[in-house]
Amino acid sequence: MKKIAVLTSGGDAPGMNAAVRAVVRTAIYNGIEVYGVYQGYLGLINDDLKKLELGSVGDTIQRGGTFLYSARCPEFKDKEVRAKAIENLRSHGIDGLVVIGGDGSYRGAQRISEECPEIQTIGIPGTIDNDIPGTDFTIGFDTALNTIIDSVDKIRDTASSHARTFIIEVMGRDCGDLALWAGLAVGAETILVPEVKTDIKDIAEKIEAGIKRGKKHSIVMVAEGVMSGQDCAEELAKYIHVDGRVSVLGHIQRGGSPTGQDRVLASRLGGHAVELLIEGKTALGVGIKQNELTQTPFDDIFSNKGSKFNFDMYELAQELSI
Ligand code: F6P
Repeated sequence: MKKIAVLTSGGDAPGMNAAVRAVVRTAIYNGIEVYGVYQGYLGLINDDLKKLELGSVGDTIQRGGTFLYSARCPEFKDKEVRAKAIENLRSHGIDGLVVIGGDGSYRGAQRISEECPEIQTIGIPGTIDNDIPGTDFTIGFDTALNTIIDSVDKIRDTASSHARTFIIEVMGRDCGDLALWAGLAVGAETILVPEVKTDIKDIAEKIEAGIKRGKKHSIVMVAEGVMSGQDCAEELAKYIHVDGRVSVLGHIQRGGSPTGQDRVLASRLGGHAVELLIEGKTALGVGIKQNELTQTPFDDIFSNKGSKFNFDMYELAQELSI
């Protein structure tokens, strides 16, 4: 292993910079040259690579977003486009590629290692959605969770002052983790996640029962993978008449300085990715399980063996919000 490249791809996530920093510094520590690829797979196609030095990643660990920029790149599904990217990697003499992103980004890496086995690839889970198998947590999840908690704590002031029901729509794609963890942390009355089928009429009845018991306000946390906050409000309005308001937290959830948890996770995973490349490993996604570093073949990640949604935690949230 002489030269590696690192890129960030898909939706940005707080902690991506800390992961790039760890990749760069672990590589240089081990005598490996590192190239940063700008704008994810687009940069591979356009040959937008620059050599990174120790100083290139100074003052980045605390920054949100990604200084390498990111992009969604649907054209990477095209084999001819990938051939161009592989040619560019070869022309720089790159023998290892670290991809920081979600599972769409991992698919690109897997294709590269299939079509050019001499280039080893390792994926680092970077997404606020916490939807990558093979790891308990993805980089950015904890920061997004804390952003949601801060926002909902503020919304709660208005909710209780005006005795309103607030429907909060949070991100997460098809994964309910952000809604579940945030809902539990803010004491939401109801949490709607894609993993659990919920009857809106039951929710309406629960809100109504709470009001009758003297509750001043209700927080309904809805994952975007279930329905929009607006649709949820309209569905609820079919059964109850409450002074409801919808808050779509949106991209605020993706921004901000990474939490300590995300910085440490990103640093550990970045270092581990480079160690695996040095060991000659390829087509693996790194992760953390029960605080131990892990590596999972891309194929297992894609076949999604064993959903990691925590149904016990969901049950607990239900019990605590009666
Ligand atoms: O994957 C991260 C994420 O923020 C999802 O939670 C959300 O559905 C999506 O990206 C939004 O994508 P975009 O920023 O491209 O609109």
